[in-house]
Amino acid sequence: MHAIGVDIGGTKIAVGVVDEAGTILAKVRRETVADDVADIDRAIADACTELAKEHEVGAIGLAAAGFVSPDRRSVLFAPNIAWREYPLAERIENLIDDLDVPVVVENDANAAGWAEFRFGAAREATDMLMLTVGTGLGGAVVVDRELVRGKWGVAAEVGHMRVVPGGHYCGCGHEGCWEQYASGTALVRDARQASVAQPDRAGRLLELAGGDAADISGPHVTRAAQEGDELAVELLATLGRWIGEGSASVAALLDPELIVIGGGVGAAGDLLLSPVRKAYEAQLSALGHRPVAQIEVAQHGNEAGIIGAADLARR
Ligand code: BGC
Ligand code: NA
Ligand code: ZN
Repeated sequence: MHAIGVDIGGTKIAVGVVDEAGTILAKVRRETVADDVADIDRAIADACTELAKEHEVGAIGLAAAGFVSPDRRSVLFAPNIAWREYPLAERIENLIDDLDVPVVVENDANAAGWAEFRFGAAREATDMLMLTVGTGLGGAVVVDRELVRGKWGVAAEVGHMRVVPGGHYCGCGHEGCWEQYASGTALVRDARQASVAQPDRAGRLLELAGGDAADISGPHVTRAAQEGDELAVELLATLGRWIGEGSASVAALLDPELIVIGGGVGAAGDLLLSPVRKAYEAQLSALGHRPVAQIEVAQHGNEAGIIGAADLARR
């Protein structure tokens, strides 16, 4: 059965038809008005309707960046989008009435992690942790080949583990959450701040951003780092350190064999992975007396959410 997977971002959605082997057969995108949940609904329905005209589909999976209810129907809470007890599946079903296809909601990182587990970097693994490093920090946990959902559907919200008491304020309402240090948002925040504080070191970053520190983006940092820019390399190393150290704490709980890093920063490759691996080993308890998990970049890039949501929807 073919299914549609929808990856819902803050200002854009990507929608694809996915076959049983995890291949995307067709894909469309829509822009959405930031933080307008009704506009997001309309964009999803519109894109699904368009794809369903050309493809026979049996289910629709929505990958949402938030805490999803165990019946896979609603987003209970989202730190970075305005969903609160939001009946997302029902809203979409109502808007695509004539399609008559079941809709399920999955956490975005769970969807991406599932895609990597079934069809990507973790397909040989039985126990894995996936981290999606983007606007927030998402997590997916597979233990003994099963996605860990928790009693109330909201397991693996690793981005909200506290790593710095009294640290940066988080969209979840607490302080010092891991995602405030290990996310694309944190990278960009630090890059902009460093460029203001140390303009003599930020020449290349400022140039890429057209002269204004406030316009520095994640891809700018990655590009500058790949060119050898010292500040950019340092910024990625700091991000990598946060990811690696936090992952070692997660390993204390889960003992994964593989940690998969997804999200746009994956494009930085070893500029990110080397610091992640180094920090992971430095912080791992019993190093030398236990195997060290492999740490790899996701294979499906920013298509993992679509693929995983579609595949989970037909289960
Ligand atoms: C949210 C998660 C989501 C992650 C990545 C976090 O802020 O709490 O639900 O998976 O961001 O989008
Ligand atoms: Na998750
Ligand atoms: Zn938080």
